[in-house]
Amino acid sequence: MFDPVEKLKEYIRHPSVSADSRYKDGMRGAQEFIAGLIGSLGFTVEVVKTDLHPIVLAHRGGNPAWPHVLIYGHYDVQPPDPLNLWESPAFEPAVRGRRLYGRGAADNKGPFLAHVAAVAQLLEENPNFPLQITFLVEGEEEIGSPSFGPFLAKYRDRLRQADFVFLSDTALPSEQQMVITAGLRGMVALEVEVTGPSGDLHSGMHGGVLLNPIQAVTEICASLHTPDGRVNVPGFYDDVLDVEPWERAELAKLGSDTEAYRKFLGVDSFHVPPGITPLEALRFHPTLEFNGIGGGYQGEGSKTVIPSKAFVKITSRLVPNQQPERIRELIKRTIVERAPKGVRVKVTDGHEGLPYVVVPPGRSNTPKDQSPVLARAFRATDTAVAEVWGRPPLYLREGGSVPIIGEIKRVLGLDSVMMGLCLPEDRLHAPNESFNLDVMRKGTETSRRVLNAIAAK
Ligand code: BES
Ligand code: MN
Repeated sequence: MFDPVEKLKEYIRHPSVSADSRYKDGMRGAQEFIAGLIGSLGFTVEVVKTDLHPIVLAHRGGNPAWPHVLIYGHYDVQPPDPLNLWESPAFEPAVRGRRLYGRGAADNKGPFLAHVAAVAQLLEENPNFPLQITFLVEGEEEIGSPSFGPFLAKYRDRLRQADFVFLSDTALPSEQQMVITAGLRGMVALEVEVTGPSGDLHSGMHGGVLLNPIQAVTEICASLHTPDGRVNVPGFYDDVLDVEPWERAELAKLGSDTEAYRKFLGVDSFHVPPGITPLEALRFHPTLEFNGIGGGYQGEGSKTVIPSKAFVKITSRLVPNQQPERIRELIKRTIVERAPKGVRVKVTDGHEGLPYVVVPPGRSNTPKDQSPVLARAFRATDTAVAEVWGRPPLYLREGGSVPIIGEIKRVLGLDSVMMGLCLPEDRLHAPNESFNLDVMRKGTETSRRVLNAIAAK
């Protein structure tokens, strides 16, 4: 049996930043590491080539009549910068207190290894453990999974043999309260480039006679929300479904301390659309966010220049039943319409992903058809969480996105049981990311119990 903490340290040492081609070796290292680790448990491992980063697909069968779980994870991580804010180097794992620090420790190397460790234990106890297991580990999650669609189309018939997907790539609010993620926001990414003069200009020689592209970009940005915080794109909210009463009841049970949340954010006040609470805004409502803006002189001191170009990077988080293609078109049309005269606007499409919701058995007034194995998996999770964490889980939607989960539902018809293992203090995507090793242990034990409960009897 392997030691999950030692394995996590090894895994973190491979700097697998999917966004940056300079990390090619780290990507390959992490992919080979995880393929080797899963192979060592007796799985048949296939490394599926894609246009960018390979997907690791591994299977152990046994008997086709056994239930079949698909366990998902991603071996890529976010860029580590700003590097100077790390207390220990991003790709040199370090244990401080009950935490293991390093880029990817929580997103998603540690949580995924919790499931691998659970499988390792079960197979050690019983090499003929009566469950079919497929591991699917991709390397492009943090860049919007561009290769995942073509991969799914090709492996569709094989993957839809599974009964459900099991993963940990979401959050829990505290160690005292496990959350099973019952929904994810979808996503549309785009970039706007505004061009004014054909080249940079002296702002004294030419200033005052033309529209500055930075001003144009900021006017476009400012037009995309109303002052009270709603997205000001005609049609944006048309397809948003009402949240079901059980979801509101579940959120109420979270009983979160809004004031503490405000302090955690470090803001003076919240900025949410009228009539909804910050927690509702986070988990139930769509957004349009500016993730980066630029143009002109960024260096020390001042420079009297009118830049030729300015840009803004935008992502919009979607909720059911907003469709990424439709929202993309609405946002693009609005940007083009609102662009002031005197500049040229180019909008480039980025990645996108469907929003996703799943209803645990017995919650909804309008229950959807669910596979018996999925229903059993939810019930087993409920029991296992109560035993391991001392309290049953809450079932909540998450503000974040794992776009492939909606795609798996659309293409394969499979639902996901998402056991959140990242705490708010894990600093996902930020310097000093870490994973709580108690959570890793409890996550492993919970996964072990769930898999045990759904295996053939
Ligand atoms: N694991 C996160 C998503 C997440 C984090 C969900 C915390 C819930 C709570 C995932 O790796 C991620 O960051 N996804 C990106 C997707 C995007 C790049 C398409 C996101 O949500 O920004
Ligand atoms: Mn992740």
